[in-house]
Amino acid sequence: MIKIKVPATSANIGVGFDCLGLAVNLYAVVQFEDSSSPLEINGCPKKYQNKNNLIYQAFVAAADFLQQPVPNLKITIDSQVPVSRGLGSSATCIVAGLMGANNWFKANLSQEQLLDLATRIEGHPDNVTPAIYGNMSASFIDDNDDVCSAHFKISSKLHFLALIPDYSISTEKARQILPKEMSYQTAIYQIGHALVLAKALENGDFPLIQKAIIDKMHEPFRKQLIPDYEEVQNICLNENSLCYISGSGSTLMAITDKKDQAQEILKAIKKSFPKWEAHHLQVDTQGAHAIV
Ligand code: HSE
Repeated sequence: MIKIKVPATSANIGVGFDCLGLAVNLYAVVQFEDSSSPLEINGCPKKYQNKNNLIYQAFVAAADFLQQPVPNLKITIDSQVPVSRGLGSSATCIVAGLMGANNWFKANLSQEQLLDLATRIEGHPDNVTPAIYGNMSASFIDDNDDVCSAHFKISSKLHFLALIPDYSISTEKARQILPKEMSYQTAIYQIGHALVLAKALENGDFPLIQKAIIDKMHEPFRKQLIPDYEEVQNICLNENSLCYISGSGSTLMAITDKKDQAQEILKAIKKSFPKWEAHHLQVDTQGAHAIV
């Protein structure tokens, strides 16, 4: 029996659209076992208990890559990662399926190979990279379709709060809403901000994070999909904190460098949005791994 544990991830982090991502301590644990039937899946809604299941598809993609036959499989999912909320639930499925196959066939695929395969399935690397490596990653796809990534430790001074609405957002819709072009001026703005943000997160320099995280590439267009965006921004600003749209939403990720402010934000969110989930999270520093 093989068990793979994969962290949730928060992509974009404001100005790092499709490039930056952060692993956090909400987990999907997926178990792979022999089965007497071709495929048995437990622990997810009925509509995903078939061959279209993303974990299974990723397992099959890895088996094909390794030129191995796909075995009869029982897959059991135990996930804390909410679906379609911008916390990388699809990345957890893809990485779990690939690593499940890697372990099943004792293939020893490297993290780089897993990342290339995962990005091919997901289409962009910003969630799958930190899901594999932990911590924060910056990544891009080069002209040979290989993924290049760099990894950053995040300062332990920072507190991350996942404020998770009781409504989902489709990534497809959140991508369609974006403009097709961007000016040179905005590109320069984004590059400068993203580079400074990465270092400021590493150093825990909160005043610099507040300036660097302000995005012009996706948040101004996507905020209309989150009806409570302004109210949550105001709750965070009142506590001298900030929030950004995690992935394509609907989760808003608050950052603060003060524990008291983190608690005040959680209190205010619970009061204004009693149906939401709100978690005070740690950065996951390990990334996906097999557990016994
Ligand atoms: N970078 C992606 C986006 C993350 O914002 O569309 C969602 O998977």
